[in-house]
Amino acid sequence: MKGRITIICENTVSFKGGVGEHGFAAYLETERGNYLFDTGRGEGLVQNLMKFDKDPLAIQKIILSHGHHDHSGGLASILELLGEVEILAHPDLFLARYHISQKDEKEVRRFVGMKFQRAYLESLGGKFILEGKFRKVTTDMFLTGEVPRQTPFEKGDPKLFAEIEGKLISDPLLDDQSLILESSQGLVLLLGCAHAGMINTLEHAMGKTGKDRVYAIMGGTHLDFASPQQVEETVAALKKYKVEHIGVSHCTGLKAASRFVAEFGARFFFGQVGETLVF
Ligand SMILES: [Fe+2]
Ligand SMILES: [Fe+2]
Repeated sequence: MKGRITIICENTVSFKGGVGEHGFAAYLETERGNYLFDTGRGEGLVQNLMKFDKDPLAIQKIILSHGHHDHSGGLASILELLGEVEILAHPDLFLARYHISQKDEKEVRRFVGMKFQRAYLESLGGKFILEGKFRKVTTDMFLTGEVPRQTPFEKGDPKLFAEIEGKLISDPLLDDQSLILESSQGLVLLLGCAHAGMINTLEHAMGKTGKDRVYAIMGGTHLDFASPQQVEETVAALKKYKVEHIGVSHCTGLKAASRFVAEFGARFFFGQVGETLVF
């Protein structure tokens, strides 16, 4: 498959302009049509699509990496434009989710789940196709499904919780999934937040496709909230797998991104709003 990925929502902007927000979305133009992966938090999606000449009406399907508000918050605004469209995601998409931290010995609880009711989104035309298994989106394009947690160093974020069967528990984030594209130069992996772990996701993508050449990884990695040890082990694994281009951003954070720049040099690019990858 040939195509182009353009970052539409991201925390930062470059000289190219657009609006920054804490969130992630990417627009895919491929031989098999155009797709929207994630929708940001809802502040810049439509504005940035217009800014970068990406036709919202050409979107064939919407794919959601997980239910967090900073990836699902633009759903209503895009559905208002698009009307009927399929939305591919995991069955846990609508779980109530919280970020819980301590400040001055007090608990600070922030709702970070999907901010829309399913029925509302359906009334706008959203047709949810929820599935937890690896699946084909179109020829040469796949969704990982649930990613097995296998590496010893990818621990998940202890501040993330979900309400499951009436109880608030550490969020397993089983809905976290990524998009895999098979190009002639190798796999292209598009991450939302990679809550399952960047390397777990990469290894799962390689295992499912049977391909071990990796052209690019883009998207959020959640390494901003990981230990220095996890960042180091991640760098080592990316070197081992000879990933050609690393275009991460969003919840990667500047510390981990700087580490990647130092290690990978020109193979790293900062996936800001308007940044593109042609494959
Ligand atoms: Fe995120
Ligand atoms: Fe997330």
